[in-house]
Amino acid sequence: MKKSRGALIVLEGLDKSGKTTQIKSCLEILKADGLDVCQLSFPDRTTSTGQLISSFLREQTILDDRAVHLLFSANRWEKWKEMNEWLSNGTSILVDRYAYSGVAYTASKGYDLDWCLGPDKGLIAPDLVVYLSASSTVLESRSGYGEERYENKAFQSRVSETFEKLKTKKWLTVYSDRPIEEVTHDIITPMRNTIRGCLSGSLESGTLWK
Ligand code: TYD
Repeated sequence: MKKSRGALIVLEGLDKSGKTTQIKSCLEILKADGLDVCQLSFPDRTTSTGQLISSFLREQTILDDRAVHLLFSANRWEKWKEMNEWLSNGTSILVDRYAYSGVAYTASKGYDLDWCLGPDKGLIAPDLVVYLSASSTVLESRSGYGEERYENKAFQSRVSETFEKLKTKKWLTVYSDRPIEEVTHDIITPMRNTIRGCLSGSLESGTLWK
């Protein structure tokens, strides 16, 4: 059903692809435009599932891969109600990683794609997914790379291939090994248009994985 609402905009990409930096600069611009926008990151490391995930990522806790997959998904479901309320009240949300990361990272370990899609089925579907693309060689040279689990070139290359399988017509792929302002320039207009489309009620809402 079409009605005025906020937009759900997701930034995806490999580790160190610049998602957090772009969310910060886009948020400032969109707020300066007078738009009602907030931000979220997954995993949300502040909740109890998030703390367990964080410990796993820092390689301080050993967990079964499938259990971790379910924890990442639970970490998103924990925010579902709040996100729904924000969007219904006209607040748009910029999200740093979402269910696509969940599926891409677990499926890249060799787990069946359909199994990986299951737990996030029914989450709010994004109105726009901005995928920041850069080669794993470029990302490897960025500061802080290698500090957490998954930050190695071979695995990141597999994740990148799995992300390709998840792309839909709502995806915008932007090459991110460029000056920050250039990348922001390329993504800010599609973000504005998506937010305005949702506010005017011309974009239909949906759920994953449709
Ligand atoms: P994040 O905190 O976004 O790290 P970075 O800022 O380096 O991109 O994500 C932490 C890691 O968790 C990252 O390697 C991707 C992985 N991840 C999953 O495996 N499943 C998920 O559902 C999510 C959201 C992230």
